[in-house]
Amino acid sequence: MKIVILGVGGRLGAALLREYRDKFDVAGFNHRQLNLSDLAAVREKLRNTRFDILINAAGFTKVDLCETQPDRAFLINAEAPRVVAEICDEKNARLIHFSTDYVFGGERREPYTEEDQASPISVYGESKLAGENNVLAAKSQNLVVRVSWVFGPDRPSFIDAMIQQAQENDEVDAVADKFSTPTYTLDIAAMLPQFFDANAEGGILHFANAGQCSWREYAQWAVDCCHDGGLPLKAKTIGERELRDMTNWIARRPIYSVLSSRKYTKLTGISPRTWREAVSDYITRFYSKK
Ligand SMILES: NC(=O)c1ccc[n+]([C@@H]2O[C@H](COP(=O)([O-])OP(=O)(O)OC[C@H]3O[C@@H](n4cnc5c(N)ncnc54)[C@H](OP(=O)(O)O)[C@@H]3O)[C@@H](O)[C@H]2O)c1
Repeated sequence: MKIVILGVGGRLGAALLREYRDKFDVAGFNHRQLNLSDLAAVREKLRNTRFDILINAAGFTKVDLCETQPDRAFLINAEAPRVVAEICDEKNARLIHFSTDYVFGGERREPYTEEDQASPISVYGESKLAGENNVLAAKSQNLVVRVSWVFGPDRPSFIDAMIQQAQENDEVDAVADKFSTPTYTLDIAAMLPQFFDANAEGGILHFANAGQCSWREYAQWAVDCCHDGGLPLKAKTIGERELRDMTNWIARRPIYSVLSSRKYTKLTGISPRTWREAVSDYITRFYSKK
C-alpha cells in the first residue's frame, strides 16, 4: 500500500509524513514540489506517481488572505481538490481530504455533527466547503476529515504564539468569546490509518480532541502546563479580549465551531483524548526540554 501526502511542508502534512515514515510506504510533495494552483502540473505529476491512498493536507489556510484573494482560495481549496479527486478515481485510489470547522457559521452552542448544514461566513470557509463537495462528488467513498484549531510541532500555531508572548511579556491576553477545540496533529496521525482501507467509511468525518474551550482558556492551559514543566514565563494569567476587539481581522470567524467526534467514536470504538491532555503532552514533549 503506497501513500502520497500533499502539503508535507505544512503543520499537519509534515506530522503525517514523519509519523508514517516507519510504518508505511509513504512519500510526500510540498508546495514547491507540487503547486496546487497549477492544475496541469497537478494532473501530470499525480498521473505519473503510483499510489493507493492520497492524503491532501495542502491548502490555502490563511483565513484573512483568502478574503482578499478569493480566486486563489477557490483554485487551491476547491478546484485543485476536484482535479486530485478525478485522478484518484482514475487510479482507483482512496482520497482522504482535510477540511475545517470554519465551514460552519457558528450560530450553534452545541457540537456540530456531520449532518449539520454547513454555512460558511468567510471566503476560506466557502472555498473549503466547495472543495469538500468536489471531492465527494467525484466519489462518495472519498473521505473528508474536518478538524479544528490544529496544533503540533511542525509549524507554529496559536498556542506557540501565546507561549512566546508569555515568555516575553508580563501581560498577555486572548479572545475569550470564541469557542472550538484544539486538535493535536499527532492525534490526527494516530487515528487516520483506521480509514486507510479501501472499504472504510467514506463521506464526512469530524475529528477533534475532546471538550471545548475559548482561545483564552486554551492559552491559559498552555501557560499552566509550561509552569508545571519548569519553563520560565513572565505572564502567569491570560487576560480576556473580546472578538470585536480584533479589528485587524479581515475575515469573519465563527464564534462557535466545536466539532462532535461522536461518529468517529461510533465507527472505531475510540474516544479522542481531551484537548487538555493533548496540549499537556505537546508541551511536555516539545517545550519542557527547551
Ligand atoms: N490550522 C488549523 O487550525 C486548521 C483548522 C481546521 C482545519 N485545518 C485544515 O487542515 C489542513 C492542514 O492545515 P495545516 O494546519 O497543516 O495548515 P498549513 O500549515 O498552512 O499547511 C498547508 C500547506 O499547504 C501548502 N500550500 C499552500 N498553497 C499551496 C499550493 N498552491 N500548492 C501546494 N501547497 C500549498 C502550504 O505551503 P506554504 O506554507 O508554502 O504556503 C502548507 O505547507 C488544511 O486542509 C486546513 O484547511 C487547519
